[in-house]
Amino acid sequence: MKVALKIWRYDGATGEKALREYEIEAPEEATLLDCLDIIKDRHDGTLAYRKSCRMMICGSCGMRMDGAAVLACKTRMAEIAASGHVPVISAMGNLPVLKDLVVDMTPFWQKIRAVKPWLDTGYVEPPEKEFVVPQAEMDVIHKESLCIMCGCCVSECNSMEADPDFLGPAALAKGFRFVGDPRDRATVERLQAYSDEHGIWDCTRCYFCNERCPKGVDPRDAIAKLGAEAMREGIDSDMGARHAKWFVTSAKTTGWLRETELVPKTQGVVRSLKEIGFAMSLLRRGKVPPPFPPHVAKDVDEARQLYELVEREGHEGARGIVQLEKPLARLERHEAGYEEAAARGPYGPGSFPKPYLPGENESTEEGAA
Ligand code: SF4
Ligand code: SF4
Ligand code: FES
Repeated sequence: MKVALKIWRYDGATGEKALREYEIEAPEEATLLDCLDIIKDRHDGTLAYRKSCRMMICGSCGMRMDGAAVLACKTRMAEIAASGHVPVISAMGNLPVLKDLVVDMTPFWQKIRAVKPWLDTGYVEPPEKEFVVPQAEMDVIHKESLCIMCGCCVSECNSMEADPDFLGPAALAKGFRFVGDPRDRATVERLQAYSDEHGIWDCTRCYFCNERCPKGVDPRDAIAKLGAEAMREGIDSDMGARHAKWFVTSAKTTGWLRETELVPKTQGVVRSLKEIGFAMSLLRRGKVPPPFPPHVAKDVDEARQLYELVEREGHEGARGIVQLEKPLARLERHEAGYEEAAARGPYGPGSFPKPYLPGENESTEEGAA
């Protein structure tokens, strides 16, 4: 088959960048990585990218296709080539680009090291030769254990784009891998450290990391589980934790988010007083409802019963995190013909998961490495 690719070339030494187009002959079963190999072997030996295992294990070949992170060795090209679309390949986001598709992974590994990615069994000696853990207890961290450290989630993280010090999805998912491990004895210390500034509560819940993780780790779910475990341990002094707690209290009591109380409940009364002028201007323009009398939802009893049900069933901590975002998203799309869209593959109109395609498949400077 004929495959056309546009690749953002970048020279770290001079800062020069250019979008180059390549057209190659490739076998039907070729992946994006195979195509890059063909380009490098037969057309342009100067192209730089990383690879090792070629089978979705080593995590080396993360890059962006049309602005969305992919593993090159997992991405088949046949459908894309048949559609006539010419994808734009660039280096991953949120990491410094060294050359072409190669990024500097140092910031990634620094975050991983910061969450202490090793089992801390304290002074507990293993009975006999080793700790034996029932499978059911290890199932809790099954997804997080699948991470291959490719960095695709970090590439797409909105919060990290705004705050490069944010621990980020990969490191926090790794953190939950140990928080959820029954052999680990450092749970509270870990949760305290992960709840600090730049930690759990700095995630904006955009779910891009779940969307782009090629191994189904669902890092955002891991972050939600860490938040729930922190709450269970009473580690809730961060503004983000107080914000989340107020949402629950407000929904339980009035079935409605009482926005005017959200700021003092989150930031504290003293800090909120400094924002009184701003709050009054919002009130005058009808941007927030008057605080009194509080608006109570018509079916508030339903909200209260729901709260009581969750409490009665004792789904506290990570066990209370419902990992249904993907099925729910699929259900929503079902109404718009999800099955047909899914059958068309990842690049048809309305397909799922849908990568970000800048300007109707046209490349832009923003898509540059
Ligand atoms: S959900 Fe959170 S961690 Fe995941 S990409 Fe969005 S901001 Fe980053
Ligand atoms: S969580 Fe997924 S996307 Fe992120 S580094 Fe691990 S395998 Fe890659
Ligand atoms: S080359 Fe190892 S994951 Fe792609």
